[in-house]
Amino acid sequence: MADKIVLAYSGGLDTSVAIKWIKEKYGYDVIAFTIDVGNERDFTAIREKALKVGAIKALVKDAKQVFADYYIFPALQANAVYEGQYPLATALSRPLMAKLLVDVALEEGASAVAHGCTGKGNDQVRFEVGINALAPHLKVIAPARVWGMTREQTIKYAQKHDIPVPITVSSPYSIDVCLWGRSIECGVLEDPWNEPPEEVFAWTKSPGETPNKPGYVEIGFEKGIPVSVDGQEMDSVSLIGKVSALAGEHGVGRIDHVENRLVGIKSREIYEAPAATVLLQAHQALEAMTLSRMQMRFKDLVAQQYADLIYNGLWFTAFHQDLDAYVQSTQRFVSGTVRLKLFKGTCRVVGRKSPFSLYNYGLATYDKGDQFDQSASPGFIHIWGLPVRVQAQAQLNVQGDTLDIKLPEGGG
Ligand code: ARG
Repeated sequence: MADKIVLAYSGGLDTSVAIKWIKEKYGYDVIAFTIDVGNERDFTAIREKALKVGAIKALVKDAKQVFADYYIFPALQANAVYEGQYPLATALSRPLMAKLLVDVALEEGASAVAHGCTGKGNDQVRFEVGINALAPHLKVIAPARVWGMTREQTIKYAQKHDIPVPITVSSPYSIDVCLWGRSIECGVLEDPWNEPPEEVFAWTKSPGETPNKPGYVEIGFEKGIPVSVDGQEMDSVSLIGKVSALAGEHGVGRIDHVENRLVGIKSREIYEAPAATVLLQAHQALEAMTLSRMQMRFKDLVAQQYADLIYNGLWFTAFHQDLDAYVQSTQRFVSGTVRLKLFKGTCRVVGRKSPFSLYNYGLATYDKGDQFDQSASPGFIHIWGLPVRVQAQAQLNVQGDTLDIKLPEGGG
């Protein structure tokens, strides 16, 4: 009996060709494994296609709930956003896929796993670093990195082997979709000067076509996890879907990013992440109310590290566990409600409240009821400014009684 390999199967052209190609080239029996992380595909059709093309078995797993609860929401609690722009949709899904691939490989007694990534991207790294961490004995095959076929040659190969070529192959774009967002690459987008054509967007309306009246949405959080929309409690997957639809209707969540890939390439990416855009903004607004300045400053540093480790395929690391432990600890009072206004492609926080708020009206108000002791401020300023005065006198260019600060021409 031939050895078995579990292939991460999307139903697209490359992984369909891979089923045949792996059998031909390596002799493995191929088990096609399709993971639903919110890809919006017809999974029954994908399953049938895998079998038709020659897989000995075709499995489909709905992983949306696990993805939302154990991958997306922890990243949201961390405010993980790569290079200040990309909310990490694809990057979050790959370690989960690696984990599930390994699980199936062990269950099925397979000796290898395969994925459809090319050799130029981040996804190959995320898959393989994850797989190697979880099951180092499994062999990993990446056909698209090995076969050296162009797009045309892949289509020819498919036609020769009676593999259906989807009509979407005529699309010039490479698109990846999951619950947390869509990414679009290739075609005219490869010139970073080109504005993305309207056709690349599927979840967000063009701001020219959005309602002329703003929309409002209230997100309820428990310990940094969004749990309700407009007062209605929801499971994670429904909540993300609901927020995505609301925000998309108002054109919120379009991102145009020239990003640094792990493999050293700069690439131009268009993202659509309506839910992520709203929820990240809401979450940060609630943190601004419930965390101290020191917690916030340190958490910002953690957020950047957290985003980088996700992007760079380091999910299954002790470093991740350590950062997550810190993040979880910070979230214990991040509960409350945030109100946002969606209008013509913009999203703004317009209200927030929390039972654990550190915002104190008595301290903040300029009206009557002011409890802040202003008479204590001169003493505070005297001591706060002490090292500044000492250094200015000792080291800065003091002329007479005034500091000689050079102002730009005409700037005086
Ligand atoms: N640039 C993004 C990332 O590295 C998106 C990748 C999309 N992947 C894909 N196979 N189309 O996470």
